[in-house]
Amino acid sequence: MTAQTNRQFLLTQRPVGAVTRANFTFREEPVGTPAEGQILVKVEYLSLDPAMRGWMNEGKSYIPPVGLGQVMRALGVGKVVASRHPNFAVGDYVNGALGVQDYFLGEPTGFYKVDPNLAPLPRYLSALGMTGMTAYFALLDVGAPKAGDTVVISGAAGAVGSIAGQIAKLKGCQVVGIAGGKDKCQFLIDELGFDGAIDYKSEDVIAGLKRECPKGVDVYFDNVGGDILDAVLSRLNFKARVVICGAISQYNNKEAVKGPANYLALLVNRARMEGFVVMDYAAQYPAAGQEMAGWLATGQLKSKEDIVEGLETFPETLLKLFSGENFGKLVLKV
Ligand SMILES: NC(=O)c1ccc[n+]([C@@H]2O[C@H](COP(=O)([O-])OP(=O)(O)OC[C@H]3O[C@@H](n4cnc5c(N)ncnc54)[C@H](OP(=O)(O)O)[C@@H]3O)[C@@H](O)[C@H]2O)c1
Repeated sequence: MTAQTNRQFLLTQRPVGAVTRANFTFREEPVGTPAEGQILVKVEYLSLDPAMRGWMNEGKSYIPPVGLGQVMRALGVGKVVASRHPNFAVGDYVNGALGVQDYFLGEPTGFYKVDPNLAPLPRYLSALGMTGMTAYFALLDVGAPKAGDTVVISGAAGAVGSIAGQIAKLKGCQVVGIAGGKDKCQFLIDELGFDGAIDYKSEDVIAGLKRECPKGVDVYFDNVGGDILDAVLSRLNFKARVVICGAISQYNNKEAVKGPANYLALLVNRARMEGFVVMDYAAQYPAAGQEMAGWLATGQLKSKEDIVEGLETFPETLLKLFSGENFGKLVLKV
């Protein structure tokens, strides 16, 4: 690649089931120059998110799907290398929807500046980015935990789950994580201070919940859906809150999504289950980001990033989210 070449992954085929390299066209084209109101950004790190799988599907969702032939959508951080926009200057670092490519050229809609002197750039995609905001608002606003509550989190060793669990600990809750594998479960307890962990790959989740949450579950932060959601519903307490943050176990389904059979547990316990979309909280990101930065600075919050190098590895690296091979926030270094 020369400095003037932009490598891009275009979505050219909608996946059925898991993503494959064949769903994309890899293109190299010359880097353009900004028109009035546009900026040119050298992409440095891309956020790889389970939601990207949903963005590839046709149909109505909380944002439009990526169009066929378009650059695959991805959040990222990068450096402004040319600008014809009054709010962004050459040398600024920005966070925005940069796309799976070397250079973003366009209007910086929704972009904001980040400071690489205050935190390493990948952290603006993890605790200090959309991931951290998701954990913060989904837990505090929808989950509404009170000190002493038992909070259960699935996908607990992942990007969102690991942060949500630590925030619940900061709020004085009893926190139990559900994750795949011994190493991830040990990490939750030894490194992040969770009170308990359930390895869903090697034990029965209901048995694990009875052991780790003898007083039942007050808040369930769900990242995975499917059988694990059903298991936790069977252990809810009176007035429990179930946060539907995600359902990664269902994203590659070729058939219909599997809904929760145990939903009458909501009726019996006068509990509620509520969906969450982080973008609804955009106006509150700066205040939450400040609080998260404070917790990071004092060591009360730990952010783990799993950085993979090479734009060209994008399709295979994305799949790590679905096999559980990522450990922490999955970031692609371009
Ligand atoms: N609603 C929103 O606004 C919003 C915003 C951001 C993210 N999310 C959601 O939050 C969830 C977590 O996202 P993330 O970025 O933090 O990803 P992540 O947790 O870092 O990575 C995904 C993890 O999911 C687990 N997993 C994969 N397949 C699974 C299955 N079949 N059953 C159980 N667990 C499975 C794997 O962990 P194990 O090794 O433990 O299996 C994997 O490491 C996703 O559902 C995502 O869509 C929602």
